[in-house]
Amino acid sequence: MTDDEIIYLDNNATTPLDPAVIEEMLPFLTEFYGNPSSGYAFAAKARKAIDLARERLAALLGCEPSEIVFTSGGTESNNAVIHSALQVDPRGKHIVTSAVEHSAVLRPCQDLEKQGCFVTFLGVDRDGNVDLAELEAEIRPETALVSMMWANNETGVLFPVEKIAEICRRKSVLFHTDAVQATGKIPMRLRNTAINFLSLSAHKFHGPKGVGALYVNRRTRFSPLIAGGGQENGRRGGTENVASIVGLGKAAELAAKYLADGKCSIQSMRDRFEKAVLETVSGASVNGAGAPRISNTSSLSFEGIESSAALLLLDRHGICCSASSACRTGSQEASHVLRAMNPNGDGARRSLRFSFGRFNTDAQIDRAIGIVPKVIEKLRATAAPRAVAAAT
Ligand SMILES: Cc1ncc(COP(=O)(O)O)c(C=O)c1O
Repeated sequence: MTDDEIIYLDNNATTPLDPAVIEEMLPFLTEFYGNPSSGYAFAAKARKAIDLARERLAALLGCEPSEIVFTSGGTESNNAVIHSALQVDPRGKHIVTSAVEHSAVLRPCQDLEKQGCFVTFLGVDRDGNVDLAELEAEIRPETALVSMMWANNETGVLFPVEKIAEICRRKSVLFHTDAVQATGKIPMRLRNTAINFLSLSAHKFHGPKGVGALYVNRRTRFSPLIAGGGQENGRRGGTENVASIVGLGKAAELAAKYLADGKCSIQSMRDRFEKAVLETVSGASVNGAGAPRISNTSSLSFEGIESSAALLLLDRHGICCSASSACRTGSQEASHVLRAMNPNGDGARRSLRFSFGRFNTDAQIDRAIGIVPKVIEKLRATAAPRAVAAAT
């Protein structure tokens, strides 16, 4: 199978680099290798390129360039916020988050619990919604941070983060959102919100891997996770990853352009695929169907299949998708997100996530619509005799 025949429907795991991003990055890997902190004119090229990237990202987020701290990605940004919130608040011994966050929030919170910090992991309903009254009731005088993701990486379910941020402002508690899956897909104007911190990652919107950013509202105190040189205005030590930051900036500029002209066909591809699969495959349902969802994600549950077997067969047909999140592929552990939505159901073992991007074509969607139902049918046909044999 050639790369041309591959149908990449795993854009929540990562996205292909936009060629225009590569073009802007290359000179900073070859010609302009100066350290942005050096004082001579040659290094100023790198410094100015970082400034431009900061402005482009600020334009996408609707914030000030000075509110952006470049990091190594979403995981670092999330860890940095959790660390900072506890450092700056001497009473801070409690965090409120949700049970469906990415492991880049869950793991640091679980580690803190072992060190004596209290963490509330809010549950969700069957559609993946969080109860705002319950969230508000969980905030205590010693709560240092509320961290709720903007778009769920497995189901695409959106949390009402602007409303949550308002609740936190009223209660004088810091609010962070992991917006790794929302950035570049949803218009944002952070300056009109009460969000204190926001995490993002370039490789989820056609930028390079290993680079991301943290938005820190200019009135919010911040204590760095990585101490070192005074880079990033003293908020993140370490020589800047110049080429990757340039790539992030270009990817942000392109995302802003696509959001502004509104011609992007991602939602129509997702909807067409979802409708066709639901119509042709019996016993198929959408995880999070009753909740607001981001436009590129389709998490589907299929009765009578094992998602691990489905992934193998789909792979043979050139379809790249995932069982839940990419981080869990290869392990037998079922999705904590789908389990939180339906603890007694078996949807977590029967679900596949298809996530679409702007490099997908209508022809690919047509092929996927042809292949997916056949794969599910084949899996059910091979599973049925085994089930009968087991029962006899
Ligand atoms: C919601 C969410 N948060 C955080 C991350 C981690 O981002 P990174 O890969 O840049 O560390 C991911 C990556 O899948 C994600 O989907």
